[in-house]
Amino acid sequence: MDRRNLILRAGATALTTGLAGGAGAAPTVSAASKAQLSAQAAINPAILQKVCRIRPNIASLTPAQLAALKTGVSTMMARPASDPTSWTYQAAMHATYATPTLPLWNGCQHGTIHFLSWHRLFLYYFERILRKASGSASFVLPYWNWTADRAMPAPFRDSTAGNPLYTSQRGAGINGGALLPTSAVATSTPMADIPFADFSGDLEGTPHGSVHVACGGLMGQVPTAGQDPIFWLHHCNIDRLWETWIAKGAGRANPATAAWRNKTFTFYDEAGAQRTVAVSKGLDTCAGLGYKYPAPLVLKPLPIFLIAQLSDVRAAQIQAPASAIAVPAALGARAAELKVAVPEAVKAPRAAPGRLYLSFDNIEVDDPEGYYEIYVNPPVGKPPQPTDPSYVGNLVTFGLSKRELAVRHGDMPMPPTRRVFDITPKLAQLRAAKALAGDLRVVLVLRTTEGAALGDAVRTRIGKVQLIAR
Ligand code: C2O
Repeated sequence: MDRRNLILRAGATALTTGLAGGAGAAPTVSAASKAQLSAQAAINPAILQKVCRIRPNIASLTPAQLAALKTGVSTMMARPASDPTSWTYQAAMHATYATPTLPLWNGCQHGTIHFLSWHRLFLYYFERILRKASGSASFVLPYWNWTADRAMPAPFRDSTAGNPLYTSQRGAGINGGALLPTSAVATSTPMADIPFADFSGDLEGTPHGSVHVACGGLMGQVPTAGQDPIFWLHHCNIDRLWETWIAKGAGRANPATAAWRNKTFTFYDEAGAQRTVAVSKGLDTCAGLGYKYPAPLVLKPLPIFLIAQLSDVRAAQIQAPASAIAVPAALGARAAELKVAVPEAVKAPRAAPGRLYLSFDNIEVDDPEGYYEIYVNPPVGKPPQPTDPSYVGNLVTFGLSKRELAVRHGDMPMPPTRRVFDITPKLAQLRAAKALAGDLRVVLVLRTTEGAALGDAVRTRIGKVQLIAR
């Protein structure tokens, strides 16, 4: 806890006891600063949260906490869809196919610098609604740590009649306890990022988007995702990873710009009243929103190469002409191999071409379930695995199916139909191993939790695959 938190917390104690300077206050806080805090709180009481609850891991919920979760979800589901505190309305505030739209629907921020901040504040107000509906004053949202527990949590797979956490709209695989693919839950790339935009963009792709499409069903599409009760636990974990990233330090920090911090979003509270809140209010979750996570875990790094997927924000800046292009590709459930010619300048032993990007453009998605692992020059004759040095990252197309793109949400600028990967280290490695002689073989392997249930139909089309130097 930093000093500012300490003072805020101490100030809150003084306020709740009504004895500024009395026995409830921490001795390190001067009477003057307490008076100042009291004055601030009188102007905006919301700046001081009286309690800071710990959001628990779903794997360690007590029976009472699980019962409260189920009561809250059932209660919200029983409310009419027109009620802003109902399950349907809250899910539609994320995004929905339903029309005509009601106030504050389709608000979710994807592919923007507010991906993390919008979802955090959205979860906070949802949590307040769910707490009241649960009948438990101490209720907090649990998180699903899918990196550690890759099966859908058991209470969400229990098909006993009346269990509100279960939905038959998930695939038989995931509802039967199939594990999410390891490449879907890898966090090492975003966690290694230092600039916030890189972290946010990488995290949004894998693990955020990859877990969405690997869960499939309602979760697999942006306009239905909020209807699956696991959505909220998934985003709670994404929110926790944001806190974990900050705690790693070494220059990791939230944007300092006033434009980012002062950006406001509007939600509904548990009384059904609209609340407008600034991003800055959520940056200290304890003081601003009244929750925190258990001490950040030491993440076990998966032995994969750190290759960044560029966020749409960054990808838009890469305008250099393509140096090599592969023909359009139609991808099904079978591994696909695309050949990309490598320019001589890139092959040259002393080449210093700056960064090299592998770009997938004009992506069209027919079937949104699953994602593709990308390999560059994998060994021939055995199925590639994400532990192989040839693994580049995941082509995650969450939100890119034609039907989803028709729903405009948040500040989504343009249909983001491009995914770009920095493969500079990979190519340097291949060049050093004198393995850059012929074309680059780009191999795409579908990963889902539904395996054999998938047909051979075309799922995804890619207009072009380019190698871009910048
Ligand atoms: Cu707004 Cu995980 O989606």
